[in-house]
Amino acid sequence: MPDLTTTYLGLSLKNPLVASASPLSRNVDTVRRLEEAGAAAVVTYSLFEEEITHESLELDHYLELGTHSYAESISYFPDLDTYSVGPERYLEHVARLKAAVEIPVIGSLNGVSSGGWIEYAQRIEDAGADALELNIYYLPASPDLTATELETNYIHLVRDLRAEISIPIAVKLSPYFTSLPNMAHRLVEAGADGLALFNRFYQPDFDLEALSVTPNLQLSTSNELRLRLRWIAILYGRIAADFALTGGVHTGEDVVKALMAGAQVAMTTSELLAHGAERAMGILSELSVWMEEHEYESVTQMRGCMSQRALAEPAAFERANYMKVLGSFTRPLKSNP
Ligand SMILES: Cc1cc2nc3c(=O)[nH]c(=O)nc-3n(C[C@H](O)[C@H](O)[C@H](O)COP(=O)(O)O)c2cc1C
Repeated sequence: MPDLTTTYLGLSLKNPLVASASPLSRNVDTVRRLEEAGAAAVVTYSLFEEEITHESLELDHYLELGTHSYAESISYFPDLDTYSVGPERYLEHVARLKAAVEIPVIGSLNGVSSGGWIEYAQRIEDAGADALELNIYYLPASPDLTATELETNYIHLVRDLRAEISIPIAVKLSPYFTSLPNMAHRLVEAGADGLALFNRFYQPDFDLEALSVTPNLQLSTSNELRLRLRWIAILYGRIAADFALTGGVHTGEDVVKALMAGAQVAMTTSELLAHGAERAMGILSELSVWMEEHEYESVTQMRGCMSQRALAEPAAFERANYMKVLGSFTRPLKSNP
């Protein structure tokens, strides 16, 4: 039996398969099933900046109302610390998950701006989370917002978060940066211990009859792995952070590829949503079988062996390869009838 143990964000894990943030973590029993099926850690679904700021604004509004209309009614409203609102339930849920399973529980915050909402990171830590994943999901639409401003916001957010908590931080990023290696480097300097690559941007579709925009959440396929493999392979050994590959992990071989690119862990959601928590066991068994058949003794032995630094042909990830790939397209063109 090969040695599957690994580490991620300083946590010792029994294997490299982690359940990424998804509705699967909303249910304590499902997380227990994930643990039984072998998942080495679980990232909880995200608490959104909007949920925190919305709840707090709403509460302010009611407090204000109370103050103006019935002065005495103010006493009916407890302060935010004890008021059970959405974010409070999230914190309680993190604590419940921690009590229910042995595997590490990684909390998840999803937001874009520095501000008071970050204090919730401290409360997620207090609830027992072993680490925190910060998902920065932002789609810039204003022509006035420069890349520098946007990137600076990201850095400030991570820096502020680092000042708030002492548990390890992973930043979940999109691939849409002009210079991803530079951004990765600065995020690590700002305090990120790990980078989870990549966020999937959910692409809305058009309903041509209703002329409306329809939300369209499709589960991934293994094809999405490649973007992640390339970037982890390029960043591995250059950026002093742990990498988690998230997006397109469906099989044991996908996990092998993630590790060989240089990831500490491979995260999966779509495969588990499609086939149930127990599928984790299947992926892990495929991983072990593959390693045995190819005579790898440990995950550590495989890690980074296909990274850009390890390859005899490092240009395989760069422009030269693009030219080669275009030149290698040999399918005959269809002639007109
Ligand atoms: C239904 C659903 C809900 C998700 N919720 C979250 C979330 O709350 N926070 C987050 O960071 N990612 C969330 N994700 C993204 C996943 O964690 C993961 O990064 C993404 O699905 C790519 O991995 P996959 O190809 O294995 O599905 C969600 C994905 C799905 C499909």
